Amino acid sequence: MTRLRLGVNIDHVATIRNARGGAHPDPVRAAQAAAEAGADGITAHLREDRRHISDGDIDRLAAEISLPLNLEMAATDEMLAIALRHRPHAVCIVPEKREERTTEGGLDVAAQHRHIAPFVEQLSAAGCRVSLFIEPDPVQIAVAEALGAAVVELHTGAYAEACVTGDENAVEHHLRRLRDSAAEGARRGLEIHAGHGLSYDSVKPVAAIAEIIELNIGHFLVGEAIFSGLHAAVTRMRALMDEARSEAAA
Ligand code: PXP
Repeated sequence: MTRLRLGVNIDHVATIRNARGGAHPDPVRAAQAAAEAGADGITAHLREDRRHISDGDIDRLAAEISLPLNLEMAATDEMLAIALRHRPHAVCIVPEKREERTTEGGLDVAAQHRHIAPFVEQLSAAGCRVSLFIEPDPVQIAVAEALGAAVVELHTGAYAEACVTGDENAVEHHLRRLRDSAAEGARRGLEIHAGHGLSYDSVKPVAAIAEIIELNIGHFLVGEAIFSGLHAAVTRMRALMDEARSEAAA
């Protein structure tokens, strides 16, 4: 089975920094610590309201980290210009609403394909691997393929929430959607990523899905870093992912 990559999202290091408006804790330092602990990539979401990651953070991440950078952004002209200036390894297009606390639900590419198409086209032409953050749904996957995206990232939020509430039927239902969508996306030639809300308790069944080749995890790791340090949190998450992968292959 393909090795599963771990992208560490460092947005919430910036959330803590911004609570006091200074320079500490530094998300770039967190990215370096994640790299030392075995992360395969760094993910950062430059939101329209700059509530966590700033433009300066993106400049420094692009210049100073050795791992591939995955820039998450809304499909706006402002973000497109920033992405085209930096040309990060990957760009993940996500939905964004000002009033939401986090990215609630995937991008509805089926409803918004006309709006999304030029973003996929221009970012791909600039050499970025373009990913669309979508719900695990066959229609969204078919449209993502038609749009020419290289990657889809399946939103694991509903699955992760079901794990937290302990509703086993819901966990099974959402896992089935993730498995079916990963298989369908891979069949269509898309590279499959997944993420949102994953923790030590919920990561393994997702990591066991063979078609998924990258998980992007942030909030839980930054929260856990308060108790164990970021290096230990990333190391443990990496180990759980590897364990799930080898158990599934056995
Ligand atoms: N993937 C995408 C596309 C996201 O927008 C986010 C949250 O910014 C994540 C993964 C990571 O989610 P979490 O911080 O809940 O682990």
